[in-house]
Amino acid sequence: MPKLSLLELAQRKLRGPKLTMLTAYDYPTARVVDRAGIDLILVGDSLGMVCLGYPDTVSVTLDEMVHHTAAVARGTERALVVADLPFLSYQVCAEDAVRSAGRLLKQGRADCVKLEGGRTQADKIEAIVRAGIPVMGHIGLTPQTATQLGGFKVQGRDAEAARALEADAKAVEAAGAFALVLECVPSTLAARITQAVSIPTIGIGAGGRCDGQVLVLHDLAGLFDRFTPKFVKRYADLGRALAEAVEAFRQEVEDGAFPGEEHTFTG
Ligand code: KIV
Repeated sequence: MPKLSLLELAQRKLRGPKLTMLTAYDYPTARVVDRAGIDLILVGDSLGMVCLGYPDTVSVTLDEMVHHTAAVARGTERALVVADLPFLSYQVCAEDAVRSAGRLLKQGRADCVKLEGGRTQADKIEAIVRAGIPVMGHIGLTPQTATQLGGFKVQGRDAEAARALEADAKAVEAAGAFALVLECVPSTLAARITQAVSIPTIGIGAGGRCDGQVLVLHDLAGLFDRFTPKFVKRYADLGRALAEAVEAFRQEVEDGAFPGEEHTFTG
């Protein structure tokens, strides 16, 4: 199955169907997501919270991102693999940003990178794109700087904040990003930004009028229960299914029911 091209991705804004993006952090889930026809696989820094047990995304290191991105890339054929640049791997200067993005491509085998921030990070986006690495932007609620934004809450609610977010979106586009994640913004503002930029927007908690949608796989599958944001739709309860399987194994070993004849070598 050939890789989805950036050109095809750009055309989907005009022609549809809407773009789909899900996170994956390892080889088996990447295979499931890729085979289901999802367009983009995000190795998000949500890795830290849903897989590594950190309290936030700030703790995630570039080494961890490289390690997990490489596993995802090995399990992916068609989807574009987007790797998150973790906190402080790009904010200090453009040179850091290019080197960090380069590691995610060279060692992690990502197809492109994502970073958080609008006008303040436009110079980093520009530098990474100039180095030949496609960049996805991410504005609205940006978890790496959630404390500065007043916590995990909807962004761009008043007129001034909405104007600022629209300016951020245009700055990300002008810097050369190929797509833009809009996280936790009112749906009318997300629709306005989607109309105002020529690159596809991918929403999470941003309503149905973006050019695509993204969710964290562990939220969608019921594998993360520390908290569930309002924008998450849970499509399965794999956490429960897994707990039942583990419990059944324990019970059968204790009862002597496993292993049975069919799982036993004779002779
Ligand atoms: O890290 C992540 O999973 C993300 C998505 C929420 C867009 O950035």
